[in-house]
Amino acid sequence: MNREIAQLPQLRLGKHTPLYPLIQGGMGVKISGPRLAGAVARAGGVGTIASVGLACDSPHYNGRNYFEANVLALKDALAEARATAPDGVIAVNCMVALTDYNDHIRAACEGGADVIISGAGLPLKLPELTQDHPDVALVPIVSSLKAAQLMVRRWQKSYGRLPDGLVVETPLHAGGHLGVTKAEQVMDPAFSLEAVIPEIVAYLEEEGLGESIPVIAAGGIWTRSDMDGLFALGARGVQLGTIFACTEECDASPRFKQAFVDAKEEDVVLIKSPVGIPGRALKTPFIARYLEGDVESSPCIANCLTHCSYKKDRQSFCIAQALIDAFKGNWERGLYFCGDNVSRCKKIRTVDDIFDEFFK
Ligand SMILES: Cc1cc2nc3c(=O)[nH]c(=O)nc-3n(C[C@H](O)[C@H](O)[C@H](O)COP(=O)(O)O)c2cc1C
Repeated sequence: MNREIAQLPQLRLGKHTPLYPLIQGGMGVKISGPRLAGAVARAGGVGTIASVGLACDSPHYNGRNYFEANVLALKDALAEARATAPDGVIAVNCMVALTDYNDHIRAACEGGADVIISGAGLPLKLPELTQDHPDVALVPIVSSLKAAQLMVRRWQKSYGRLPDGLVVETPLHAGGHLGVTKAEQVMDPAFSLEAVIPEIVAYLEEEGLGESIPVIAAGGIWTRSDMDGLFALGARGVQLGTIFACTEECDASPRFKQAFVDAKEEDVVLIKSPVGIPGRALKTPFIARYLEGDVESSPCIANCLTHCSYKKDRQSFCIAQALIDAFKGNWERGLYFCGDNVSRCKKIRTVDDIFDEFFK
């Protein structure tokens, strides 16, 4: 497919350069599985499989072997995405907060991922976990200059290695977990992309790292002109989530996608996630009850998080179960993460439609 690509920055992530400087963000549980990631990689972007909870829908899972099944399911997902996009750039998104994080990283490398994108905590030890796979590009997700500096300095000092890119996701508009600790920081303009991207770009340039560490902007990007505005601030790539959740290729149930099409601005709420940080989601009946102080009594399905308020004191809910329910399209009980742009989803589109809109 030939699209006009003049004047776009080139997004080089280590040894991997997609045709277009666009990453489809990892979306768990299984919102971005092999089907979506494969389609995006085939269209010329970076297609990302979210590693969290892949066991839930896998033939390897027997109800007792969640961790083992996750690893096998991730390798299966990589093989499936690769079959769709043999020459495409395929990433795996791994959340640092997961109990079995190290296993996900190893499985991603062994399964043939080109890129690992890692957030929900700072991936301080990622180079050590991937040392036998030097071709895998490593891209931390950060939300502030301080976090970017910490990542660069720590990797340089401990491993003599630099990040191959930095996804800068700020909380103002993004879907899923938001990279700040307090709810009041979510709307703080100091944490907007317009504030943080130029700071990080300037820092990398001062350090002589502007060429080797591309900055990728994430959160609230919906149009070509949003993207161009961020390139003008020095970003060399963009990462989009919500827009891709509402595609034919998205791995979630059609009922999940329909909830995005039906969503109105006022349906989007901020919650305190069991991980302990704010998240943005649709106000499903389940989330409405949670916001009113109702707490769950369902069992913790797998001890999947290193820090979980539900596991600790039962003051929230089992996030793995709620995300699995959303993936299956259960509106009553699901946690439907979404960006605040979700009300702009008017119909279920194809991945190619989105690429045409951005790059034609
Ligand atoms: C349904 C959903 C699930 C998400 N899950 C994850 C995840 O598992 N890991 C992660 O790092 N980011 C996750 N995100 C964030 C996305 O990768 C992406 O960075 C973000 O959605 C970008 O903002 P946008 O939705 O406004 O485009 C999720 C977002 C959504 C909408």
